[in-house]
Amino acid sequence: MSGTAGPVPAERCFGDWFGGRPAQVWLAPGRANLIGEHTDYNQGWVLPFALDLGVTVAVGRRGDGRLAVRSRQAPGAPADLPLTALAPGAVTGWAAYPAGVAWALREAGHRLAGGASLAVDSDLPQGAGLSSSAALECAAALALDGLHGLGLPRQELATLAQRAENDFVGVPSGIMDQSASLLSRAGHALLLDCRTGVTADIPLDPAAAGLALLIIDTGARHALGDGRYAQRRRECEQAAARLGVASLRDVISPDGLGRLADPVLRRRARHVVTENARVQQAVALLTGGDLAGVGALLYASHASLAGDFEVSWPEADVAVDAAMAAGALGARMMGGGFGGSVLALVPAGQPAVGAAIRAAFARRGWPAPVFFPAVPSAGASRLRRPDAAGAGTDADGAGADADGTEADADGAGADGNGAGGG
Ligand code: GLA
Repeated sequence: MSGTAGPVPAERCFGDWFGGRPAQVWLAPGRANLIGEHTDYNQGWVLPFALDLGVTVAVGRRGDGRLAVRSRQAPGAPADLPLTALAPGAVTGWAAYPAGVAWALREAGHRLAGGASLAVDSDLPQGAGLSSSAALECAAALALDGLHGLGLPRQELATLAQRAENDFVGVPSGIMDQSASLLSRAGHALLLDCRTGVTADIPLDPAAAGLALLIIDTGARHALGDGRYAQRRRECEQAAARLGVASLRDVISPDGLGRLADPVLRRRARHVVTENARVQQAVALLTGGDLAGVGALLYASHASLAGDFEVSWPEADVAVDAAMAAGALGARMMGGGFGGSVLALVPAGQPAVGAAIRAAFARRGWPAPVFFPAVPSAGASRLRRPDAAGAGTDADGAGADADGTEADADGAGADGNGAGGG
């Protein structure tokens, strides 16, 4: 990520597509999840971190009350409609995510007077389980919030972005991805209690431990909207109802799960209950400076996601097994499942794990996987550029990094350096 003084691609695109210069530019990262999978919508705990890849949105005000959204990665006509016409179903495809955010803001009573134009750029691969859609929602939410001077707290923006995804796009996802994108701190994972909303920054510095976190995009593609994610969510709700608790978060030990007569519900619940415990154990290890010790938890998480929750996929299982056989300390599938990426904890500077996974894929005739270093990075920030001084208007500072995450704003990625292949 270079700290060039010139405009980032989203700014240039804004000029080409809408004319003039954007008022503000925002970057929202994708995320990896160290541990805590399928626990967010069960009101449990998650431990994700932001990546140094993300979505940039350059935003400018309009006067005609319309929302126009165009992406560098989706050539073709922009989505362009009056704000008053925003309703679930009115916009489809990738543009439904930013349009859904505008809709959710208006539903919550916020005025977006005059409308907005959004130019979108991304270096996150799509469908790789790295939350490119949440990053898009969050960048759009910050851009609209900043442009219109709403000053909404980031957790509220996360909730509105989730509402956009749930009720406008129609995917029943939890709050993890938006929270990771908006609230993460560099060098840390974000511990989030999904019931209370309480967060804590947990130190996560693999390099300092002589280790590295490696993302392996298995190439298998998932779609959270295909019904299987929603089915898992329903199964968890059924299990909680039969156990007489508000959510599976309230079950502390797997011992009582024998009361669930249905073996499928019992397995689903066992994953959630044991995964919540693994998050707590990981936090204790990290707080004590023992990242290596987290490896065994990652592997146990994968076994639980594959066996009890049944959301793994063949490429993930092969990648995890090959990684472990080649000396990884731990590895697991990441995200909703059925496609996307694996996360491995490996000794730094040793190519053996990557080579073993590549060879295992080649033996099966599968396309080569793609590897990224997963560097725990800062959450979303506004890009302030020397040559854009004064472009930030009324909303200057609104939601902009009271916690100081903006330190690296000038070089905060978004220069489309191709690292993400997106
Ligand atoms: C997807 C969803 C998240 C979460 C994960 C599984 O990434 O968007 O809310 O449920 O799956 O942990």
